[in-house]
Amino acid sequence: MSLSSPVSIAVLAGDGIGPEVINQALKVLTAFGEKTNISFDFQHGLIGGAAIDTHGVPLPEESLTIAKASQIVLLGAVGDFKYDTLDPAIRPEQGLLQIRKALGLYANVRPVKAYEPLLHASTLKPEVLQGADMVIVRELTGGLYFGQPKHQGENDAVDTLVYHRHEIERIAHVAFQLAQTRTGNLCSVDKANVLASSRLWRKIVEEIAPQYPTVTVSHMYVDNAAMQLILNPRQFDVMLTENTFGDILSDEASMLTGSLGMLASASYGEGKAALYEPSHGSAPTIANKNIANPIATILSLTLLVSHSLGLPKEALWIDEAVNQVLLAGYRTADIMQEGCTLLGTTEMGDKIVEALKRL
Ligand code: IPM
Ligand code: MG
Repeated sequence: MSLSSPVSIAVLAGDGIGPEVINQALKVLTAFGEKTNISFDFQHGLIGGAAIDTHGVPLPEESLTIAKASQIVLLGAVGDFKYDTLDPAIRPEQGLLQIRKALGLYANVRPVKAYEPLLHASTLKPEVLQGADMVIVRELTGGLYFGQPKHQGENDAVDTLVYHRHEIERIAHVAFQLAQTRTGNLCSVDKANVLASSRLWRKIVEEIAPQYPTVTVSHMYVDNAAMQLILNPRQFDVMLTENTFGDILSDEASMLTGSLGMLASASYGEGKAALYEPSHGSAPTIANKNIANPIATILSLTLLVSHSLGLPKEALWIDEAVNQVLLAGYRTADIMQEGCTLLGTTEMGDKIVEALKRL
């Protein structure tokens, strides 16, 4: 992709720990830009609770305009308990769902890798985690979160799980193409023994498979997949699944990396628009204490640099900087281990910037 200079990036920091982790990512991206002679123009906008407080809606028109103009969006996190009693249509989470929909970001990619220095930070046994390296490809703009009708009454409530052929086809192609560049092992996760939408999903994945002869496809029920992920995570390479299953399984899979604070997330659509964020939420209970782990957001920059800036080799520098800081024994509270040095959010950001500059 040819870069206009400066590269314009919409920054929607959001709520809770969002602004803290985003600030670290901006420092890292700026340092990356200095190294590569790329300048960035950060356009800030509101989303989530921060937008509800000022504009009464979770995704104000201005924020969407900035996002559309920039093509690249860097997002923190949304949500806070204080909005739990609001009308569901204007809850902070809707801001995130709305921006995904408005930008057509149907393909969510969450790389899950067991970091060698963090093997002992996870609650799972190191020998189970070692070598785990997979990517979850989650459908992001269909299924239960968007299906109509949706309604909540006093004594009944409805969510609709609907999938259309084209939605399944396009996400399946993303997963097959990704699998081609990796070990060629694609596992499609569904609940075809119970759900009609899953049976259609499975049928379409099977129909597409012959177009990708180097990819081996398997199918797994979601309940089994939840178990297999922690029984033997190394069996997975690319995992393809629908919106809700992917939401749940990616949080579970984050434990393979040591912490939810390590899991990056990128969302892509048909065009150039892309949104990068940590997989984790706004964690309001630890907000403004300088204790959140900024690494998930920083790692989402590797996806940004590789995909949106078209610089896959340089993207590895960010990964390497994170790795070096972990190897040197620096940790935030969520991944703290005996004998390591505890850092705050800002200090972790600084260490990664220093490591990046040294590379
Ligand atoms: C995620 C989050 C969101 C989702 C919420 C905040 C709407 O959990 O990105 O995984 O469910 O997609
Ligand atoms: Mg989630």
